[in-house]
Amino acid sequence: MAIIPYKKSTTLCSFLFLFSFGLCLVTTFAGLRRFEHPTKEDGSMSFLVLGDWGRRGAFNQSQVAFQMGKVGEKLDIDFVVSTGDNFYDNGLSSEHDAAFEESFTKIYTQNSLQKQWYSILGNHDYRGDAEAQLSPLLRKIDNRWLCLRSFVVNAELAEIFFVDTTPFVNMYFTNTKDHTYDWRGVPSRKAYIQTLLKDVELALEKSSAKWKIVVGHHAIRSIGHHGDTQELIKHLLPILQANDVDFYMNGHDHCLEHISDNKSGLQFLTSGAGSKAWRGDMKNGEGLNKEGQVNFFYDGQGFMSVQLNPTQAEIEFYDVFGNVLHSWTASKQLLLLHPSI
Ligand SMILES: *[C@@H]1O[C@H](CO)[C@@H](O)[C@H](O)[C@H]1NC(C)=O
Ligand SMILES: *[C@@H]1O[C@H](CO)[C@@H](O)[C@H](O)[C@H]1NC(C)=O
Repeated sequence: MAIIPYKKSTTLCSFLFLFSFGLCLVTTFAGLRRFEHPTKEDGSMSFLVLGDWGRRGAFNQSQVAFQMGKVGEKLDIDFVVSTGDNFYDNGLSSEHDAAFEESFTKIYTQNSLQKQWYSILGNHDYRGDAEAQLSPLLRKIDNRWLCLRSFVVNAELAEIFFVDTTPFVNMYFTNTKDHTYDWRGVPSRKAYIQTLLKDVELALEKSSAKWKIVVGHHAIRSIGHHGDTQELIKHLLPILQANDVDFYMNGHDHCLEHISDNKSGLQFLTSGAGSKAWRGDMKNGEGLNKEGQVNFFYDGQGFMSVQLNPTQAEIEFYDVFGNVLHSWTASKQLLLLHPSI
């Protein structure tokens, strides 16, 4: 069993003042940067998950933000996860792009949302200056912001593995007449994907967290507009199934949905409804009958909350009015050290 030196670097971290909110860069393990995020004192944690949002408040983005603030307060959230497509239509043009403040800082204004945000890049973010969103300069403008390509957040109770899924998708490399992508950070696609898969697999194998969560921009399974992502079904899904991952959370399809994997305990959770939605082209779920069970699908705007403790996970989806549309609970056995006779 690998021993990851959290404690050692925590001391170092307090001197570095890298980030606020008690977050700090811990170490690099299996090629992935790891951050430590403490759980609440009672051993529980909660967070919101939002995707596909930055449109300067338009398409109900502001309404979703308002309800996130209310739910965030009620659940006393620890942080927010963004599943990517942070800025439309073409990411940020540079670190100085006003869209950063107009679509993020000035939209998610409520007290409960003044927490750490953990973000990844979506395909639209790759259409602009992808490196700009990763820049430490943005954290100076708004210290909630942390966006990296792939990384791990260790929140003791749960470990969250953020995976950069855009480079997996063939279409972005073959169809280059409609859009251009900023591949500066992906000099060799094949090597990038192979290394990333190996890093994620190793990190998952070594994880002893009670809850294992993987976050990517693209859906593995979806009945929304884009549907399943075949490249992820082929390359990423087997790793998640083999390592008892509890949840795969994504955006990309502008909807909310919950699909259960038939082959493992994995739950596919789409939260990609941060602004423009209502595509009205739900697929009929073909191909899902043997592979998964669709528990919930909503075509409109909204977001998701996650509440975790050592024995229970509760997932809820909300619309623009703050109504709970779908709620789902999973339980885990506590390890009994002194079984009663
Ligand atoms: C905003 O949300 C309401 C309620 O779901 C919906 O009727 C309306 O179409 C949405 N507006 C846009 C622009 O999507
Ligand atoms: C898979 O899910 C479908 C529902 O979509 C269900 O009818 C079927 O029995 C499941 N198959 C297995 C092998 O669990």
